Parts: sequence; C-alpha cells; structure tokens
Amino acid sequence: MIILGISCLYHDSAACIVRNGKIITAIQEERLTRKKHDPRFPVNAINNCLEEVGIAIEDVNYVVYYDKPILTFERLLMSYLTVAPKGLRSWLQAMPLWLGQKLHIPKVIKKETGYEGEILFTEHHEAHAASAFYPSPFNEAAILTIDGVGEWATASYGFGKGEHINILKELHFPDSLGLLYSAFTFFTGFRVNSGEYKIMGLAPYGTPKYKDLILQELIDLKEDGSIRLDLSYFDFLGGLKMTNKRFARLFGGSPRKPETEITQREMDIAASIQAVTEEVVLKMANHVYEETKQKNLCLAGGVTLNCVANGRLLKEGPFKNIWIQPAAGDAGGALGAALCVWHRYLGNERENDTGHDLQQGSYLGPRYSNEIVKAFLSNNGYLYHELNCDNRASTIAKLIAEGMIVGYMAGRMEFGPRALGARSILGDARRQDTQTVMNLKIKYRESFRPFAPSVLEEKSSDYFELDRSSPYMLLVSEVCKERRLPQPSMDGMAMMDRLKVKRSDIPAITHLNYSARLQTVNKKDKPDYHAIISEFEKLTGCAVIVNTSFNVRGEPIICTPEDAYKCFMRTEMDVLVIEDYILFKKEQPKWEEKADWRNELELD
Ligand SMILES: [Fe+2]
Repeated sequence: MIILGISCLYHDSAACIVRNGKIITAIQEERLTRKKHDPRFPVNAINNCLEEVGIAIEDVNYVVYYDKPILTFERLLMSYLTVAPKGLRSWLQAMPLWLGQKLHIPKVIKKETGYEGEILFTEHHEAHAASAFYPSPFNEAAILTIDGVGEWATASYGFGKGEHINILKELHFPDSLGLLYSAFTFFTGFRVNSGEYKIMGLAPYGTPKYKDLILQELIDLKEDGSIRLDLSYFDFLGGLKMTNKRFARLFGGSPRKPETEITQREMDIAASIQAVTEEVVLKMANHVYEETKQKNLCLAGGVTLNCVANGRLLKEGPFKNIWIQPAAGDAGGALGAALCVWHRYLGNERENDTGHDLQQGSYLGPRYSNEIVKAFLSNNGYLYHELNCDNRASTIAKLIAEGMIVGYMAGRMEFGPRALGARSILGDARRQDTQTVMNLKIKYRESFRPFAPSVLEEKSSDYFELDRSSPYMLLVSEVCKERRLPQPSMDGMAMMDRLKVKRSDIPAITHLNYSARLQTVNKKDKPDYHAIISEFEKLTGCAVIVNTSFNVRGEPIICTPEDAYKCFMRTEMDVLVIEDYILFKKEQPKWEEKADWRNELELD
C-alpha cells in the first residue's frame, strides 16, 4: 500500500511516501528548485520520492492533500466580507492562484503527475496532529498544534491512542499565536514565514519591556491559553501588511526597514513577543494537560519550531515527555496527511514498541553514492582526495580542531528545516571567533545569529543541563554552570561588543543567556557524524562541535553534490566533504560566475 502525501500552495511545499505505514521518503520542494520556502506544486519533490522508492505514479494507491481548500476559501471570503471594500487589492492578488490551482487540487495533481487514482484530503491541523503523534515514540499522548492558520484553525489540541486521534478543540482565525509572532517578524524588519527564528535569536539581546503592553493592548490571553487579537492593530485581514499605523504608534514608530541597523528597540520588541509566546504556549500546554491528563505531549505546527518555548515547556510544563515533529511547519503536513490515510482512513493499527520514534532521525531525503559523487567531481575537473573508513572521521575532526570550516554532506538529506549532520557546515565550538567567521564569511548573514551545537548523546549532560536526548535541534538548553564564565554588565554595550564577550568554554555555541539550541547525536541514527565528533573529542577533550545548515543566507539547504560544491566555492569555507571524498579550497580550479550570485537569492 503506497500513499503519497502532498503539501503545497501556501508555503514550504513537500511530498512524502508512506509504504505499508512506514515513512519511506520525504523531501521539500525548495531543496530541488533552489527557491527557499517554495510554495509551488511540488512536482520535483514528488518525482524525487517516486525515484527514491523506485516506483511510478501508477503504483501509488492514494494521493492525499494536507488541507481542505474549500474551507480555506470560505475563510478568505468571510475575511474579505468583514473588511470590504478595504482589502480588495489583496483579494484580487490572491484570486488567480485560487481560481487556477487551489480550488482545483485534483485536476492539478492529475495534470502535473498523470495520477488517475483516488485523491483524499485531510484538514490542515489534522495533518499537523498526525505528523506529531504517529511518528512519535508514544502509544498514547496529548497533541497540541500551533501555527499561523490552516483553513480556520490556528491551534488545536486533542489526544492520540493507538491508531486513533481525537481533536478536542480548535482556536480559530483571526486569533492566532503564529500570526501574532509573524506580525512582529514583519514589524522588526524580517521576512514573514521565514525570519521568525531570527526574532527568537535576537530576543536575548533585549529586555521584555513591551510584554505587558502586548498583553494589555494586542491580545486578550485567557487562562486556557486561547488568545483574542485586537484587530484594530493589525492589517492582515484585508491589507497587504501585517501591522498598521496604530500598531506602530504603540511601539514608538514605524516598522524597521529590512536590512537597516537593528536597534535596541527591535531587540526589546523581540524579547517581549518571545516572552509572550512562551507564556501562551505554557498556558496552552497546561490546559491540554488538564483536559487530557496524559504524561506525553506531541507538538507540530510552525510555532512549535520555537525551540526556546519548547525548552521552557519541557522544564516548566506539566508533561513528562515531549516529542516535536522535526518538520513542524507545513512541509510536515505531507507526512502527516499520508500517515492519516494509513491509520485514520484505512484503519491500520498502530503500536510503537520500539522505545524510540519512527522518524528515522528525519534522514528521509535523497542520498548520493560514492560512485555518483566521484563521477561528478572527476567530470568537472575538481580536485579531491579519497577517505577510507580508517581515516575518514579522524581526518575531518583534525581539520575542525585546526580551526577549518568544513562543509559536510553525507547520507540521506534531512527532512525539516534543521541540518542534522547530513547537510551541515561544521566548526570548532571552542573558538571564540567561530561565530563571527561563520556568520560573516560563510553564511553572509547577520552577525548576531547564534550557532547550534552537536554533542555526542552520551556526553550531553557533561555540557548541557538537559536530562534527555534532543536529536532534532528543537529544544533549547543551558550550558552547564561550571562551564559558564561570569559576564560584565552589558548595559549600553553595542551588540557587536556584546558578541565578543566569552561566555563559556564552548563560546561559539553559547548564546547570550548561556542557552544553546542542542542536537544530541547518537551512533545508531548517524554513525558517520557520531564518529567525527568522537574523534574530535579524542583530539581535544571536547565532545561538542558547531553545526549550522549547509547554505548561505536566503538559499535553501544544499541537496546535491553540485549544490554542495557551488556553496563551498562561493564562500570562504576551507574544506568540503562529500561522502568519502574530501576537497580543499586551495587546490580547486578558479571559480567564476557570470553574474553576482547574491542577486539570485531573496533575503530572508
Ligand atoms: Fe500549518
């Protein structure tokens, strides 16, 4: 039984194949089209999935789409009628895509893929809930989904048991924690549906001085975690922007223009909305616990990529265990929808006795064999050296220890927005300058952006105050007290100067408040990556390295050897490893491009 799940036409299009209930492959369209957050119909992702499984579209038994477009259309129509005639422009802007594609999903699927069989639809939050519960390590758990909006729902909760999922309640548009966060993303000059995690990274630089203002003026937060937005401050119902003049007056002036200097105001706003978000999420979780009395919680939806809120939820919330779908955004909807058909529609039993999750480390994308990589390198005249299993990990570890920045591509690509050691850029966590070098010379992104650590799972508690594994980089934890260094008063200190203050003995991954967005690496899920960090520890005594996604700012994470080489040559990365081949920058032929490649990328 082969089920193809599809999510698309809003943001982060993706496809996924589930065979006899097992997730076989999943990939986001952006990785293949090289357009970040690509929302288009994922014809490339679908073809890639079919290829990975070695089947044709005729072999697929069901295709399922992760949303019910008629309900979304109804919401759009109602929103327009509420504000009409204002909002005519955004209505007219949205219509062609609705009339051309969104209202005709079966026709589009048939036309783009040639599929003739049955097409099913799940509700948006049903797909999120399924993506959270079915792959989780639990046989029974509460479920909480929080995002911008899907059809009418902006959050939902319920519980899962065996193959059953019961959604108990939904919060409805326009009252949305995701949209509230996005409004602040817009107001602080970042891109909506893309720059949200920058606010989270910026928050520790500020003080939450607007928190009470947000709670008094913008939202009405109830004890059960539901919120009501005061729409007189927002413009997303009928306008083309997220916030309006009244909102700006409340925060002392116009929104920050993208790419201009980030001032203390933006840092304080970031700290404030982050604090509010954490409070709302905690209240929601407490309520879900009261209603379900489960000890386990599963999370999905874009807001649950907020790993700082997740970290607090684990530390202060009522649940003993938490599992978060690593593709928590809409890409994960493809996976949830496919699993929904297997369990909910077809009624297949589910029992997970494995003691771990069924996401397979989220290494669900394509991989490229040594033969393919070698042919690619040779055919293009790129100079490489072969590694073997005896020297592979130690060679790479030694280069990292010497301060080299290493682009690393090995095995199946990750599904979800985090790079987990299959498409990563690696560096030395002990060096103070790694963060600045990586931000400015490799990623070409804002210097305040923190980097995340990968740590050997078995050594994690020697470095971080987290009593469990965190394989998907979705939890924030604190660096152990004994590793921290005292901080001088930072009042009035410029952002760049604050960055230069050493915060621990692993400074490159220790954020301002001693926090770190952690990935614990275990030997079973990713042996090659585990071996590198182990060798690094043998050499240096440190079981932590810096891991950031293999891309530059505005670019999707690399997928193919060609993407990897291009990114390697465009940046000041020193070393590139693709499978068992290693390349040094200084040995490569001269790299020339006709146009400035940076113009190709939309800034996020
Ligand atoms: Fe969603």
